[in-house]
Amino acid sequence: MLIEIKNLKKSYSLGESEIPVIHGINLYIEKNEYVAIMGPSGSGKSTLMNILGCLDTASSGHYYLNNIDVNTLDDDALSLTRNREIGFIFQNFNLLPRLNAIQNVELPLVYAGIPGIERREKALKALERVGLSDRLHHKPSELSGGQRQRVAIARALVTNPGILLADEPTGALDSKTGVEIMRLFDELHKEGNTIILITHEQEIADYAHRNIYLKDGMIHSDKPNLKRKQLS
Ligand SMILES: Nc1ncnc2c1ncn2[C@@H]1O[C@H](COP(=O)(O)OP(=O)(O)OP(=O)(O)O)[C@@H](O)[C@H]1O
Ligand SMILES: [Mg+2]
Repeated sequence: MLIEIKNLKKSYSLGESEIPVIHGINLYIEKNEYVAIMGPSGSGKSTLMNILGCLDTASSGHYYLNNIDVNTLDDDALSLTRNREIGFIFQNFNLLPRLNAIQNVELPLVYAGIPGIERREKALKALERVGLSDRLHHKPSELSGGQRQRVAIARALVTNPGILLADEPTGALDSKTGVEIMRLFDELHKEGNTIILITHEQEIADYAHRNIYLKDGMIHSDKPNLKRKQLS
């Protein structure tokens, strides 16, 4: 099993008190699944994603990623796991404004200590994969929203992570551009990636193969998506 979550709880401390946010979740995700996590604002979606992405740890319970209990890892091992296994995609792209497309995509490889020539090769390949070979030297401000998100997806792909975690990846895009991004996720899923995306919109969740609804920090429903929208 790729991801195994057992009775996971998370609370945030606010002054003296502990505010529970995730109330004991059990969740299993296999390699190459395509999952959408939905739920109202404040239901704990981003909190869960941060834990899944090893950006944050649970207050109690277990998270096994590739059969390793993430709670047993120290900070260095945790960030190594994160860099190796997970590519992040955010609503607002999180690109560095002063860097061009290639430089933004190269960044995770800089952190991973990959030498310059190899870095450039991998970044070019990732940008080609998302259809941006003609925008290599453009800065984020010189790109459209959809193109910015493609750069961010190339940055997520460049380390060859296997798991793509996306928090509202189409949230800042118009619906037509959003569909183009969903088409890219569909292709990346077919190529063997595991995709976990968070969305408010049922229309976006309709592209995934499995829909999980969170409500008040608990899994309210978890179903295969039988009416999956097809992209040609
Ligand atoms: N760092 C934090 N400290 C304290 N409380 C937090 C923190 N992060 C989130 N919370 C609280 O945890 C709850 C869940 O937040 P979370 O961001 O996971 O919700 P969400 O489902 O992603 O919402 P949205 O759809 O608005 O993005 C909210 O009530 C929020 O106020
Ligand atoms: Mg959120």
